[in-house]
Amino acid sequence: MIEFCGLKLRHPVINASGCFDVLAAARVFGDELFEQFPFAAYVSKTITLRARAGNPPPRLWESAAGLINSIGLPNGGLRAYLETDLPALAAALPVPLITNVMGSTPEEVGEILDALEAEATVAAIELNVSCPNVATGLDIGADPDGLEALLHHVRPRSSKPLIVKLTPNTADVAACAAGAQAGGADAVSLINTLRALALAPGGSGAWLGGGSGGLSGPAIRTVALAQVSRVAQRVTIPVVGMGGVASGADARDLLDAGATLVAVGTESFRDPAAGSRIARELDDGFTQIAH
Ligand code: FUM
Repeated sequence: MIEFCGLKLRHPVINASGCFDVLAAARVFGDELFEQFPFAAYVSKTITLRARAGNPPPRLWESAAGLINSIGLPNGGLRAYLETDLPALAAALPVPLITNVMGSTPEEVGEILDALEAEATVAAIELNVSCPNVATGLDIGADPDGLEALLHHVRPRSSKPLIVKLTPNTADVAACAAGAQAGGADAVSLINTLRALALAPGGSGAWLGGGSGGLSGPAIRTVALAQVSRVAQRVTIPVVGMGGVASGADARDLLDAGATLVAVGTESFRDPAAGSRIARELDDGFTQIAH
């Protein structure tokens, strides 16, 4: 059993926000999904105050050992989440729910936290200050002082554990983590995607409808390891490590670098059962794992 921000988790592997749609997966896999749920806690896709359509297509580009996405946070908005998704998640999820949220201003974030405060199903909140695919997505998250000020504003609005999802697209990720801790964060999670660009064949400009995107997958694994290690040495709050985790050995590296939990992102698109496999490999000591 792992203790994380007051939650008791049966292993250290959770999903990265936006990389496993549990309600869609349930339609495909049925009750079997919940009987062998791949993650020890479930992190929702980012919820914003108002509904968002997301970025125009194309939204994905496969690169060498990675994936560039420019999804743009499509979601039905806070009200739809409270009325539709949350009751469905409450009825089905066999593990604690971490709701990921984003606001364009501190006031918006505060409004979302106020609304989630009464929801017992929400065990913790992950604050996305690191999306490279929307105009205001990481302005605050890349600036240690701005991040601390944001946390000071929103921390009093929630009694739930607050996990701040950090961007790697900054000069000093450890300073950002320290700013989040100083503002009252209970944990930090990293890394979100690295800003990246794919050009359309034939020289007609950017391939992705949103222009640039965020790179994830094995290509960013060593960057994640370096940043998690720096952050874990700087802060005293727990760290959730992620970035290209595809095996128990990858997860072990992040735990050895100082993470308390590990999140699986892009690998779940290739193997929806990756979370259970990686938790099992970790448990087995990952002696037989090939990269
Ligand atoms: O939907 C998205 O584009 C999410 C990106 C992120 O938070 O990194």
